[in-house]
Amino acid sequence: MAFILRKCVKIVKSGLPIRNVRDLTSRKTILGIETSCDDTGCAVVNSNGVILGESLYSQNLIHVRYGGVNPLVAYELHRNNIELAVKEALDKSSIKIENVDAIAVTTQPGMLINLKVGVKYAKYLAKLSGKPLIPIHHMEAHALAARMYEEIPFPFLVLLISGGHCLLALVRDVDDYLLLGKSLDNPPGEIMDKVARRMKLKNIAEYSKVAGGRAIELAALKAKDMNSFEFPLPIVKSRDCNFSFSGLKDSVIRKLLKKESEHGVMGDEIIPEVHELCASFQCAIAEHLAHRTERAVVFCEQKKLITEPNRNIVVSGGVACNNFIFKAIEVIGTKMGYNVFRPPPKLCTDNGIMIAWNGIEKLKKKSILVTNIDDKDIHPVAPLGKSYIDEVVKSNIPVKVTRINKYLKL
Ligand code: KG4
Ligand code: ZN
Repeated sequence: MAFILRKCVKIVKSGLPIRNVRDLTSRKTILGIETSCDDTGCAVVNSNGVILGESLYSQNLIHVRYGGVNPLVAYELHRNNIELAVKEALDKSSIKIENVDAIAVTTQPGMLINLKVGVKYAKYLAKLSGKPLIPIHHMEAHALAARMYEEIPFPFLVLLISGGHCLLALVRDVDDYLLLGKSLDNPPGEIMDKVARRMKLKNIAEYSKVAGGRAIELAALKAKDMNSFEFPLPIVKSRDCNFSFSGLKDSVIRKLLKKESEHGVMGDEIIPEVHELCASFQCAIAEHLAHRTERAVVFCEQKKLITEPNRNIVVSGGVACNNFIFKAIEVIGTKMGYNVFRPPPKLCTDNGIMIAWNGIEKLKKKSILVTNIDDKDIHPVAPLGKSYIDEVVKSNIPVKVTRINKYLKL
């Protein structure tokens, strides 16, 4: 069943949404395919932002068992599921492959063998139907997903936080990005997944079937106090917009070991302070993300990269599902006079919808329609736009840490 968007269409006097009036003559429909990591996602989306059909074969539960994404296991599952995923999305949309305008597929960044599964199938469909292909950058797709739901004009600031990435960028156009900051070590989702595993959260029934980051969020909600444990904030003295999470991971593991030894915890047992430890750890991650985002806002203001009508921040990627972290960014937004948006949860995590939507955005800009994608066009590592990190460093902007626990309750 088609899912009709609730927002982002202004109603004109005739009663027809502006977007529909504009698009009646030029409506496009795209099939999107995503296989860059551990989700086989597919969707049919039109240029009005209507999801006509979608499917998602998530491998999350399998990888929770393995303690991380195993590329070979993911590859086998993508191969088993890709045909089913595409068929399901097309069937739900009641659209035949011959009737889509193009096939969008993730070509970068991601796990090489997994990207290849999606590209191979997209090429097969393109050959079968004579439709063009649109190569998609996975992080660009995360960055623009919120524009399906809200009128967010270019330029805007984006914070992309997931299991594979941590990026701060200025989005100047569909295909024009300035990278302001990135993680110097691990992304926050990966750290949360590892910490959740070490805390043995999956032994607690209610957390056993969710991603590590979500388990930490749920456990934190049960904490009596989020200030029970203190974490030193990472790289506070570096006046840039980069991130570092490995120190926080080491610190939380040290505190966990100390408590385990104090309580004589053995095997599968869990420390009694697990909720409080999750809450303090989550708060430290949120404060670090908020601190760097605030500097990015000040930088964009100083350099006049963003001005009055465009004071918007988008948060996306799997970790953006975290309500506490999102609210922490909202605290910064309120302080700096910025609106803060995120896509709905199913569009924050990996999915085929954002790939199809990115295809629509690219089609509207009349960019990149191809008839073939070679293996050399598939890139496991691919930066997001042009690096502006040195410019941020040169600006040497001091930003005091905003103590999020003063603004937010659990
Ligand atoms: O964007 P995504 O689906 O895949 C990558 O590209 O990485 O993000 C997955 C990550 C995982 O690390 C997962 O633990 C994290 O997003 N995640 C969360 C939440 N839901 C998913 N992290 C914190 N809080 C959540 N509620
Ligand atoms: Zn992703």
